[in-house]
Amino acid sequence: MTHVFHRDSRLTYPVAVRGEGAYLIDREGKRYLDASGGAAVSCLGHSDRAVIEAIQRQLERLPFAHTSFFTNEPMEALADALVARAPKSFDKVYFVSGGSEAMEAALKLARQYFVEKGEPQRAHVIARRQSYHGNTLGALAVGGNAWRRKQFEPLLIDATHVSPCYAYRGKGAGESDAAYAQRLAHELEQEIHRLGADKVIAFVAETVVGATLGAVPAVPGYFKRVREICDRHGILLILDEVMCGMGRCGTLWAFEEEGIVPDLAALAKGLGAGYQPIGALLVARHVYEAIVEGTGFFQHGHTYLGHAAACAGALAVQQRLHGDGVLARVKPLGMLLEKKLKQAFADHPHVGDIRGRGLFWGLELVEDRASKKPFDPALRVHARIKRAALKAGLLCYPMGGTLDGRRGDHVLLAPPFIVEEAQLDELVDKLGAAISATFTLEEET
Ligand SMILES: Cc1ncc(COP(=O)(O)O)c(C=O)c1O
Repeated sequence: MTHVFHRDSRLTYPVAVRGEGAYLIDREGKRYLDASGGAAVSCLGHSDRAVIEAIQRQLERLPFAHTSFFTNEPMEALADALVARAPKSFDKVYFVSGGSEAMEAALKLARQYFVEKGEPQRAHVIARRQSYHGNTLGALAVGGNAWRRKQFEPLLIDATHVSPCYAYRGKGAGESDAAYAQRLAHELEQEIHRLGADKVIAFVAETVVGATLGAVPAVPGYFKRVREICDRHGILLILDEVMCGMGRCGTLWAFEEEGIVPDLAALAKGLGAGYQPIGALLVARHVYEAIVEGTGFFQHGHTYLGHAAACAGALAVQQRLHGDGVLARVKPLGMLLEKKLKQAFADHPHVGDIRGRGLFWGLELVEDRASKKPFDPALRVHARIKRAALKAGLLCYPMGGTLDGRRGDHVLLAPPFIVEEAQLDELVDKLGAAISATFTLEEET
């Protein structure tokens, strides 16, 4: 009997009691290789001494001082560390406690930016279908996952959605990457014209789509076209790097690979690596200056923003990534993981696509590879894989609704940056066992 209002009242959860590197251990002593970092959170594994000790030291000195009265040392140092490694156009960081809060802050700041600039008629946000930006009402409204939105639809602000850049299903036969990127850019521009270019605040996208599509990078050139369109119409580009940023894709900022710079970038997950809840919004100089030259006050704020212990933990994460060379592991390990995944699953009859970047990979599961026909959603293939993986001692992040919020299944992988090669083999073996168990079961039922 539990008094906890758990996520899913139909499930009984094992009790996690300990973390050890890439593994989580439950009360029965069962070890789980954490190949998804929960939801792409635990980039340093579960027992990083440097981060734990930095948080402990901060708690001894000062756990919390409300930011309407004080600034604090770790918050200042963390902002310095992030800005020092950001493109020159960024100068400020707004701290929050998670990814949804970072996206809420982005949306409100984008709106206030235009109000301060004397363009209060700008009120529309354009985002993409099959995206996830969080579960608070603003973030949910811009998110494009039909299932997550459905019952809350009457409460959501009016955002519109264009196609994601999802080459496996979106790119036409014989269409080049450049032509596909151009077609999607044209769709975005048409939507801007439909709404009225002077009515739009921002275009919002995950740089590499995580939970809802399963680690889908855009085709080369897509974000360059998007940036040009935003610039042409004076629209802000908000990139959601809550999942894909902070080194997950091999570079600190996922947008580095795209050769563009957004106006606002939302961070969370790997920023605190699971040691503390923290999120942040990286803010371009011109956005900040519009506030400074206007009212001077961003009309937002939460009690725990800039929490000293959370910032101390995140600062120690940055030191591990850069000072200790942990970030440099991501690209080579990612290439190794790609190779192993392709060796194991490229010819699997139910694996339609293997895509990703860095240590962020997705496998899309299909009933039929030639036609890309998805499984019947009633089979809940993703849920079966999650169950089978747990049984095998593997944590991965399967999800359904890949195509349209209802049909399609994928498995998301986001192992820690400290993972060893042997653990990548263990990952692939256990995932293979979970997939086999799922389809054996499915063929029997
Ligand atoms: C891309 C993206 N944005 C926002 C969020 C929301 O973050 P949080 O769950 O920390 O509120 C998530 C969470 O999965 C995410 O993947």
